Amino acid sequence: MARLVLNQITREFGDFTATDRISLDIEDGEFLVLLGPSGCGKTTLLRMIAGLLEPTSGSIEVDGADITALPARKRDLAMVFQSYALYPHLSVEKNLAFPLKVRKTPKTEIAERVRSAAETVEIAHLLDRKPKELSGGQRQRVAVARALVREPRAFLMDEPLSNLDAKLRTATRRELAALHRKLGATFIYVTHDQVEAMTMATKIALLNGGRIEQHGTPEELYDTPSSVFAAGFLGSPAMNLLDATLTTTDGKISVFAPGVEAVLWEGATPERDIVIGVRPEHLSVFAAGAPEAVPTAGVALRGTVELIENLGREQLVHCRVGEERVTVACEREDAWGIGELVVLAAPVSRVHLFDRESGRRLEWRSEAGSTAAGPERRAAGRAVTRADHRADSRADSRAELPAGSLPLSS
Ligand SMILES: Nc1ncnc2c1ncn2[C@@H]1O[C@H](COP(=O)(O)OP(=O)(O)O)[C@@H](O)[C@H]1O
Ligand SMILES: [Mg+2]
Repeated sequence: MARLVLNQITREFGDFTATDRISLDIEDGEFLVLLGPSGCGKTTLLRMIAGLLEPTSGSIEVDGADITALPARKRDLAMVFQSYALYPHLSVEKNLAFPLKVRKTPKTEIAERVRSAAETVEIAHLLDRKPKELSGGQRQRVAVARALVREPRAFLMDEPLSNLDAKLRTATRRELAALHRKLGATFIYVTHDQVEAMTMATKIALLNGGRIEQHGTPEELYDTPSSVFAAGFLGSPAMNLLDATLTTTDGKISVFAPGVEAVLWEGATPERDIVIGVRPEHLSVFAAGAPEAVPTAGVALRGTVELIENLGREQLVHCRVGEERVTVACEREDAWGIGELVVLAAPVSRVHLFDRESGRRLEWRSEAGSTAAGPERRAAGRAVTRADHRADSRADSRAELPAGSLPLSS
């Protein structure tokens, strides 16, 4: 059992900064996923936690004790590598016993812990085999079992599923999540795969260029991404992100770009360059002439159908809006034709706004407070950027848009 605290962890390689002042509080029993594209510093950070690499500056605490200077073998943290790092000439049983032998554990205890770990990951029948006589999935289980026998304070895993084929990866993902629930131990898990992060994590730390882009629950990252980067990284197909201008029209906050019209909240804002985002599953498609194509609130994108992909369960309708590509995920029963003029619509609650220069999320805050502004009180709000890199993702306090017609009709 362990709570880990990272304080301002920086690691430089020459004049390159691989991790830049990373601070994280990892609760006891948490399944923290370090997520991010290749080269963002995930492995570097995990190796520093494991004690395999020294930070240039910063400190690491486990349960209140500073372990920054402690060698790896004294940290009581078990690492599972992508390569599994099994000893090829030893049987599975001996591979599992190895970390305990090194620690001079009594023989009877070794036998008991090896048996228990092997049963937990269902490899008890493979104990006499050598690693080369195992499938990839079985080797992966042996690697996990070898971490289990140590009964560590926390498990550190670096892309442990990346050598498995797609089907086995899905199955093993579920097993690891179940193992975490069963053990109640702290897991720190590195992956570049957003599906693994969404499905297994209790918390995700999204890394970008050595810095934490956002830290929160999978729901918080998906529902309120704190930056354009976070918005684009989680979700498949990715969120539609379009350059646009935020402005005030007839006392309402509105958004304009070629083919894009959105009227959002009552209020006023100085004009600014933004990025507007809508997830594919939150857009509905209407024929350009249909009555629903004149929505009374929210965003409307006018475009033409360019490509349709049938995914079986649903279809992806790819449209050209202005100079941009916009994707909608929708039911297959609506047959759209290539070249057809359409309107893609989403309600205000599904619209994400980001400052174009900083890439940070913009929240609409009514100065009258989070309670709905009465009709007599003009909500003079402002769009604020979340400056803090580790901004929490609490529910926003957007003022409601009173009913009324919007200048979306043609
Ligand atoms: N020992 C090293 N020497 C120099 N650069 C390194 C070293 N280890 C990692 N890096 C660099 O640090 C960055 C982060 O690497 P890494 O943590 O392995 O990324 P990730 O695991 O997120 O793909 C990369 O640009 C990588 O080239
Ligand atoms: Mg890596």
